[in-house]
Amino acid sequence: MRKTVLLLRMILLMMFLVFLSINNNYVSLNEVEIRSTQSNLEIPVKVLHISDLHGKLFSTKQRKLTLMMDRLDYDVVVMTGDMIDKKTDDFMPVEFLLQYFQERGKPTFFITGNHEGANPLYPEFQNLIEEYGVTTLDNQKYTLNLENGQSVSFVGLSDPNIVSFQESQPIVDELLSEAGEQTDTTILLSHRPTFMPHFTGKTDVILSGHSHGGQIRLPFIGGLISPGEGWFPKYDYGVFEETFVENNRQTVMYVTKGMGNSIIPIRLFNSPEVAFLTIY
Ligand SMILES: [Fe+2]
Repeated sequence: MRKTVLLLRMILLMMFLVFLSINNNYVSLNEVEIRSTQSNLEIPVKVLHISDLHGKLFSTKQRKLTLMMDRLDYDVVVMTGDMIDKKTDDFMPVEFLLQYFQERGKPTFFITGNHEGANPLYPEFQNLIEEYGVTTLDNQKYTLNLENGQSVSFVGLSDPNIVSFQESQPIVDELLSEAGEQTDTTILLSHRPTFMPHFTGKTDVILSGHSHGGQIRLPFIGGLISPGEGWFPKYDYGVFEETFVENNRQTVMYVTKGMGNSIIPIRLFNSPEVAFLTIY
């Protein structure tokens, strides 16, 4: 009898470990429509949004990811930080993706996350991504003129581990203000979603990561824990809409679950994702 109970426990443990492995290694492609009431876009812009890889390798040369992305027709790629972990010293997992994006030939933007800011090898990483033609948008603006005649401004916020928020905020405010006057829509890249209240009413869209979907997603509740927000985070995953009352301007934010892990090494009911955004 005791042997049977032990055997059953072992089988249950094995099943749980297999389930956990699937939860952490099966990447989902999530196609999301972002509708901004402020945007002047008549034809949507298609954005491939990836984040929080934390240096993880998904199969040989990231083929699990690249095969998935092969069938996507996008205008631009954005990487919203933590592509490496603070302890990463092997950049190859990111380099496979950089090679792939370079071959696809679409504009590719990057902003820093807290882990790039905490990694002593970050200057080397910065050089590497530039070698692959990626534009770092930390406290910078890039206006993309699409073939269909529309223009989209991307503004990036440097992570506070690189430049303090007090220093970044007035720079980014100014860039957003310029962008709002010049282009059909403005997209802010901010690794940490908790900055949304500071930029609501100043940009049409925010793209963010950092939360890892709350690591463990509970039915009817959502994410369990996220860095910076602690237990039951507000900005865990998905689409958030807020309106700044003074100018009645709405801002829509998408927070991706990202792909890797860091301090908490597991995900449950929360698969890694590649987000394919259609922004109107
Ligand atoms: Fe992060």
